[in-house]
Amino acid sequence: SATVRRGADGVLAVGGLPVTALAERYGTPLYVLDEADLRARARAFADAFGEAFADLGGGADVYYAGKAFLSVAVARWVHAEGLRIDTTTGGELAVALRAGVPGEAIGLHGNNKSDAEIERALRAGVGRIVLDSLAEVEQVAAVAARLGVRAPVMVRVTTGVHAGGHEFISTAHEDQKFGLSLAGGAARAALDAVAARPELDLLGVHSHIGSQILDLAGFEVAARALLALRAEIAEQTGRLMPEVDLGGGYGISYTGDVAPPTPHEVAHALADVVRRACADLGTPPPRISVEPGRAVVGPAGLTLYRVGTVKPVRLDDGAQRRYVSVDGGMSDNIRTALYDAEYTAALADHRSTAPLVPARVVGKHCESGDVVVRDVALPNDVARGDLLAVPATGAYGRSMASNYNLVPRPGVVAVADGQARVLVRRETEEDLLALDEG
Ligand code: LLP
Repeated sequence: SATVRRGADGVLAVGGLPVTALAERYGTPLYVLDEADLRARARAFADAFGEAFADLGGGADVYYAGKAFLSVAVARWVHAEGLRIDTTTGGELAVALRAGVPGEAIGLHGNNKSDAEIERALRAGVGRIVLDSLAEVEQVAAVAARLGVRAPVMVRVTTGVHAGGHEFISTAHEDQKFGLSLAGGAARAALDAVAARPELDLLGVHSHIGSQILDLAGFEVAARALLALRAEIAEQTGRLMPEVDLGGGYGISYTGDVAPPTPHEVAHALADVVRRACADLGTPPPRISVEPGRAVVGPAGLTLYRVGTVKPVRLDDGAQRRYVSVDGGMSDNIRTALYDAEYTAALADHRSTAPLVPARVVGKHCESGDVVVRDVALPNDVARGDLLAVPATGAYGRSMASNYNLVPRPGVVAVADGQARVLVRRETEEDLLALDEG
């Protein structure tokens, strides 16, 4: 994860820069991204999939899921390290294109794409549009016909595998908005509809089974289901789809208590299952793609906060919890409130030898669920003015940030070799007021 070291003076340094200097120069809250770490993760995925699939005919592509965090610089970095970019909206597509990523290295997702988004994607010559409904087959075909182009498409399939956290359930989970049901026949209907439209070039099938997944078994079940579908369609139509996308979702360690699968482990596990499944099915392996977001950017980021009010609260059992308020909260990290996500926090601007006490890091929003770190042991002398660092906030922090309570969203600063650089500037009150037309 982000290379964080505590100096002799007790100050944490990231990318060779003391967090005190970062906080002073850029203010808090502040998202800090370790460029070298992010790039190394992107490179590790590209290398691992390249190597694991080298002898598998089709090879493999890794798309970075831009929803985790996308800025022009990040798009450039991950592309330079060998990844393509998966986008979900016109906004993400615009950033990838602004970064100079070639259209053919970009994919477009989304369960409710607008005609404008589809048109923009086709004009940019994207490598693929992932279709998410039967209606979208007609929608994309119509836009392609109007533009006089052929649209490369995949069909997103719900395989019945849903994973996340530690468990995976190999039945049900059809009752959600994404994809087309394999068991219910909707996937097959969409694939037939695609085949009937000359404006559409069917690349293959796609599945995304969930997020923050630590056990690879779910991916293997989904991969087998997609490969079997591909073989079945080839048998019936004589056409073997060239690609299969297995989605993203590889978990990371937020608090240091789990060992997530490495890119190498992920790539080899998937290559093994593709190799075995294709041998069983008697079909040549397709080109495989995956879409990690969190695992590329999550561990490379941390958030710096300034401590404000510290309030001891007596609990029912007589114990005490220290509520440590920081100058951000659910507007810069909604994940704790939304998913009960676990984070940790550390005193960042000095070392303390005071005894550790149970603490909760909370924000400044008007909501009791405004929690950043639910449970953490902090020195009992944590006080107003101290700096706190919350690790592993690189994914789905800034990208899900809001202006709740009209709080300007924090900026994102990248650090590398002792140098800092603003990737996304901090919003100001003027930015917010500029939108208010009175
Ligand atoms: N591909 C597709 C089609 C997806 O829907 C997603 C995530 C990804 C790739 C990337 O998944 P990752 O590798 O980052 O886990 N905002 C939530 C997670 C929702 C993700 C939705 N889709 C969070 O903060 O945990």
